Amino acid sequence: MVSAMETLTAIRERRSVKYFDPDHAMSEAEIRQLLEAALCSPTSFNMQNWRFIAVTDPDKKAALRAAAWNQAQVSEASLTLLICANLDAHQNAGRYWKDAPDPVREVIVPMIEPFYGDKAELQRDEAMRSTGIAAQTIMLAAKAMGYDSCPMIGFDPSKAAEIIDLPERHIMALMVTIGKALKPANPRPGQLPYEAVVHRDSFPRP
Ligand SMILES: Cc1cc2nc3c(=O)[nH]c(=O)nc-3n(C[C@H](O)[C@H](O)[C@H](O)COP(=O)(O)O)c2cc1C
Repeated sequence: MVSAMETLTAIRERRSVKYFDPDHAMSEAEIRQLLEAALCSPTSFNMQNWRFIAVTDPDKKAALRAAAWNQAQVSEASLTLLICANLDAHQNAGRYWKDAPDPVREVIVPMIEPFYGDKAELQRDEAMRSTGIAAQTIMLAAKAMGYDSCPMIGFDPSKAAEIIDLPERHIMALMVTIGKALKPANPRPGQLPYEAVVHRDSFPRP
């Protein structure tokens, strides 16, 4: 059953959980529901540059755990998600606007390739923006579905790339583990005060 958790509650209650019930399996319908939520995440020019590898195979999870300095959540979570991106997603961009009205498509589609083509840093930045937004969407959707999660970059990306057969011109952004929490996260360890990170209209002058 999907709980009707409110968005702000899900945001506040999402924490990085490290211990998951290794005997719990998410159903295929739940995995699909979670990832369909991810596909609602915004991307620049709607280019949907994220790619999601949903790992449930125990051998693959064990191999990923070994590539993640043996962090338990990688194999004990029900779903170990590798969030990757296609650096060439700006190509053949007509498919992202095929259902738009003609005048909209005719203006937007020709802008996309010149905006990103041969700008390696921008392509990578866009990959990280899109995957970061999608990761948070997934973690909040997981919370609303009664699951917990942990975002992770503590793994060897080249080893993980081999395990999941990451294609050329794709990059690994982060891992997100999702499952039934066995142990809650520790209390937040040291949040910066609101005033240290939020300013009105401009940065304060020194
Ligand atoms: C990009 C990223 C990478 C992270 N990598 C790891 C990791 O490899 N292992 C881990 O246990 N936690 C990891 N975390 C979790 C952070 O430690 C955690 O988000 C932070 O301490 C704040 O706690 P909270 O998520 O419970 O609010 C990562 C978080 C982010 C956003």
